Amino acid sequence: MFTAIYPGSFDPITNGHLDVIGRASRLADRLVVGVLLNSNKNPMYPIEERVEMTREAVKSYPNIEVTHFDGLLVEFAEREGARIIVRGIRAISDYEFELQMALMNRRLKPDLETVFLMAGEQYSFVSSRIIKEVARLGGDIGGMVPPHVEALLKARFEKELTK
Ligand code: PNS
Repeated sequence: MFTAIYPGSFDPITNGHLDVIGRASRLADRLVVGVLLNSNKNPMYPIEERVEMTREAVKSYPNIEVTHFDGLLVEFAEREGARIIVRGIRAISDYEFELQMALMNRRLKPDLETVFLMAGEQYSFVSSRIIKEVARLGGDIGGMVPPHVEALLKARFEKELTK
């Protein structure tokens, strides 16, 4: 059983994440999507909601599990029996930070490989941060996040505007 881990903050999950998830699910027998509990990005959604939104988005994949983790990614990967960490690369600007993380993770657990997958080019500009900003300002985020996430974001910001 070849297990891969796809970690992230998923605040919220986007179609760019889903594109990478789809690709990774075809490479591994089992893909564990790990939602980071204490992201230093100060998440907008609590962990339960991020896990729930992510679960809903991947429910059609039989070989994907969604769970949360805290602490070191390499420890989580080991607990799950994963041999690879999957990360998505959108543009060259992602590379520097991703390389730094991958090399640190390799230093911590030399047997664990990081594999970079290129998200579809139509998602090269999509990030959770920019999606939240556009949604907050009433812009159209259709096609960039799954429909249930779009509905949740709209409802949240409509409520904020009417406060
Ligand atoms: O979606 P993100 O926020 O880019 O994901 C970042 C993530 C979750 C992969 C990274 O912050 C992480 O692995 N955090 C866990 C703590 C850890 O292991 N840090 C050292 C990695 S160099």
